[in-house]
Amino acid sequence: MKKDVMLVTGAGQISMAIARRVGFGKKIILGDKKKENAETIAKIMNDAGFDVIPTEMDLSSRESILALIAEGKKYGEIKMLVNGAGVSPSQAPIEAILKVDLYGTAVLLEEVGKVIAEGGARLNDIAPGIIVTPLAIDEFNGPRGDFYKNMFAKCPAGRPGTADEVANVAELLMGPAGAFITGSTILIDGGATASYYYGPLKPEQ
Ligand SMILES: NC(=O)c1ccc[n+]([C@@H]2O[C@H](COP(=O)([O-])OP(=O)(O)OC[C@H]3O[C@@H](n4cnc5c(N)ncnc54)[C@H](O)[C@@H]3O)[C@@H](O)[C@H]2O)c1
Repeated sequence: MKKDVMLVTGAGQISMAIARRVGFGKKIILGDKKKENAETIAKIMNDAGFDVIPTEMDLSSRESILALIAEGKKYGEIKMLVNGAGVSPSQAPIEAILKVDLYGTAVLLEEVGKVIAEGGARLNDIAPGIIVTPLAIDEFNGPRGDFYKNMFAKCPAGRPGTADEVANVAELLMGPAGAFITGSTILIDGGATASYYYGPLKPEQ
């Protein structure tokens, strides 16, 4: 049976939270460089009634992106794309970050743009502050750990965010209520960026 298809890159916490929020009734193709991550998240979601196919894919490779798209097209029209794959400075050198997060994202948008169904949802960007996920935990334990811990402790919200709060934004952007929002970057950071703009976090005075 044909279903609407949602492509998801990165089997991480943010991807999963978004996929759970908007992926019901869809065939979800979930790609990750670490196949075991894709399989783990797929099992959690399939046990909760979703329809997820885990697959190995590397966002920094056009060939791999094309393979993800080809897998999705087997099941129906590609209606949604969530790009949640990425690496952080404590996980990878700058060359790898640029290859995955910048080049890979550009190629993904180019290639999915050629095949996404009429009316499909894409093309907004969520800019999260500190969201507790394995990636953020690697940062907490890395050389900039104290900087990040200070950032969330002293930002107006006084805490880090959760992947489910990012999914709240994605649900708006990807659903009918967000149909007039496109080409936007939505900041969700507990007020940290705005605080830095006006000076140090939580100034004495
Ligand atoms: N967590 C935060 O505080 C935060 C803040 C800003 C931006 N982000 C971005 O959000 C996105 C999601 O991260 P998360 O916090 O959910 O982390 P996460 O660690 O839960 O998930 C990231 C996933 O991406 C996968 N991945 C890494 N390189 C890949 C590649 N080349 N191809 C395919 N998959 C790959 C990892 O194996 C991992 O499963 C990332 O792009 C990250 O940079 C996160």
